Amino acid sequence: MDAVNAWLVSHNFETTISILNVEFPSSLFLALLSIAPLLLFRVLGDSSSPSTVVETVITKDRRSVMKYAGPAPESSIQKSLNAAIHAPNHWLNEPWRFYRLGPKTRARLGEVNPDKEKAFANVPDMFIVTCVPSMSMKTHSLDVSKVKWDGTWGKCALEDHAATSAAIQNMMLSLASNGVGSKWMTGAMGISPSLLLDLVNADPNDEHFMGVIFVGIPATPTNSMKVPKRKNGLGGGIVEFVE
Ligand SMILES: Cc1cc2nc3c(=O)[nH]c(=O)nc-3n(C[C@H](O)[C@H](O)[C@H](O)COP(=O)(O)O)c2cc1C
Repeated sequence: MDAVNAWLVSHNFETTISILNVEFPSSLFLALLSIAPLLLFRVLGDSSSPSTVVETVITKDRRSVMKYAGPAPESSIQKSLNAAIHAPNHWLNEPWRFYRLGPKTRARLGEVNPDKEKAFANVPDMFIVTCVPSMSMKTHSLDVSKVKWDGTWGKCALEDHAATSAAIQNMMLSLASNGVGSKWMTGAMGISPSLLLDLVNADPNDEHFMGVIFVGIPATPTNSMKVPKRKNGLGGGIVEFVE
């Protein structure tokens, strides 16, 4: 700072600047001025453009998390549920249901599968997500919810399933964008889907189990976790140009 002040004096600049009768060292303003381009780049630069942010959230920040350090802020959970219900759904019937598990139901999970009791206890929040599949109708109608599902996976039911999967992914991406980890669990719960539906009083004739979603602050930042390799990448017939 002495060197900066000496330079200011030798160039006939004041060593302090008065703002609202408060004296600030001129060197502070010089320092701010020198990092201004960097700050501007950070704000306007490509690294913070929406597409770059979305890509980072999708490919780096969202990872399946098993170990948690604590509960997610309630505001992040609410945002994620709002993101979930904005998923595309062909029949505009919002076929998803999110059951947030309270302490009693959480305790039941451990009773039903004692082998996983400890692992379950480490998870700060859990949601059981179900889909309410609808019947395909002969006539094309948007009011599919009026006809009760008969348990068959027709066109509408499959599309409801797809929409609910999109809702879950929206939820997990929203959580990731707020530094919250999640994990979609099915078989590894070691509890049958019918029992999980029963735990949340969901009628298996009306609802299909989609998964249990673990939620919480990750013990390790997700962007430093190992990415399970996408073996096929964009090659291997995954993406092909079809004329
Ligand atoms: C429908 C579905 C069910 C899943 N069920 C399980 C599960 O039962 N146990 C588990 O360890 N992971 C489960 N996962 C998470 C995957 O194992 C995980 O997404 C995969 O290893 C890729 O890792 P990433 O999510 O970090 O990219 C499930 C994922 C999906 C989409």
